[in-house]
Amino acid sequence: MKKLPILIDCDPGHDDAVMLMLAVGSGLFDIKAITTSAGNQTQEKTLKNALKIITLMDADIPVYKGSEKPLFRELIIADYVHGEMGMDGPSLPDPVLKHEPLSAIEAIAQILTESLEKITVVPTGPLTNIATFLLAYPHLKPKIERISLMGGGAFRGNITPTAEFNIYVDPEAASIVFNSGVPITMCGLDVTHKALVFQKDIEMFREIGNKSGKVVAELMDFFSIYYRRERPELAGGAALHDPCSIAWLIDPSIFISKPCHVAVELTGTLTAGTTVVDFFDVLKKTPNVEFVYDIDRDKYMQLIYNAVQMLP
Ligand code: BDR
Ligand code: CA
Repeated sequence: MKKLPILIDCDPGHDDAVMLMLAVGSGLFDIKAITTSAGNQTQEKTLKNALKIITLMDADIPVYKGSEKPLFRELIIADYVHGEMGMDGPSLPDPVLKHEPLSAIEAIAQILTESLEKITVVPTGPLTNIATFLLAYPHLKPKIERISLMGGGAFRGNITPTAEFNIYVDPEAASIVFNSGVPITMCGLDVTHKALVFQKDIEMFREIGNKSGKVVAELMDFFSIYYRRERPELAGGAALHDPCSIAWLIDPSIFISKPCHVAVELTGTLTAGTTVVDFFDVLKKTPNVEFVYDIDRDKYMQLIYNAVQMLP
C-alpha cells in the first residue's frame, strides 16, 4: 500500500511521543521530516526529546529545529504536565543523533518544493512554525494536502476555562493557520478528552515486552499523575491528545466529525486563545475546518497498541 507522505511538527511531550510512535509503528506514513515547536517545554528540550524518540525507534527521519518562541508573545510551557525535561518518566539515553542544519521553516519549504505530490502536515504543538512557513512561502500552500492538527476545542479549555494549550500559547499563529485556506482537520479537547488511556491500557503496553512498549507505559505513568490529580472528571483516565491527529489519518471511521467554521479569539479579556467553533452553523460562514468531536476509544487504543508492537 502506498504510504501517505506527511510532515510532523510537534513539541514532545508525552502524548507527542506516543503520536510519533503511532505514526512510525503503523507503517502507513512516509514521514518526510519532524520539526519541533516550543510549547510543552522550550525548543531546546522538545528538540532533544524528538531526537530521543527517533533514536528509540531506530527511525531514519530527519529532525529540524523550529522557532524558540511564539510569534508575538512570550513562551508559556506545560512543565506542570510534562515535567522539567518535557518528557519526564522513562530514562532515555541522550540521543547521539543530531538535528539537521536547516531550520524547520526552510526544511518545510524545501521538502514541499521538491515533492511531486501533495504532503499532509500534522502539527501537535503550538502553530508557530506552520504559521511562519505559511507567511514566508504562501505560494507553497497548494502543496499541502491537509493540516491534521491537535488543538483548540468547542466546549471546554484546559489552560483557561475556554482555551486549549496549543492555541493559547500562540493564538496569532493559530489564527494564520485557520485562515490559510488549507483544508484543516482539528482534533481538539472535545475528542481528546474521550481519547483516554487508563491503567489497564498502560499495563497492556508494558506487557508487550519491547523497549517502546516499556517507554509508552512509563510515559503514561508520569502523564497520568497530572490527570488523576487535576481531572477527576476523567475517572482515572489521561487524555491522550496528540495521537488523534495521526489516528484520524489512519482511520477516520473511528471518529465523528463535521465541517464547521472556526476562528481564533485574539483579544478577548477572558477568552484569548479560544477557538470559536460554530458548531451549529449560526453564522452561515463557509466551514474552514473538519471538526472532530467523538471517538471510539477502544479502537483508538488498539491502533496505538498495534503500532507500538511493531517497534523495537
Ligand atoms: C496539548 O497540549 C500539550 O500539553 C499536549 O502535548 C497536547 O498537544 C493538549 O492541550
Ligand atoms: Ca503536543
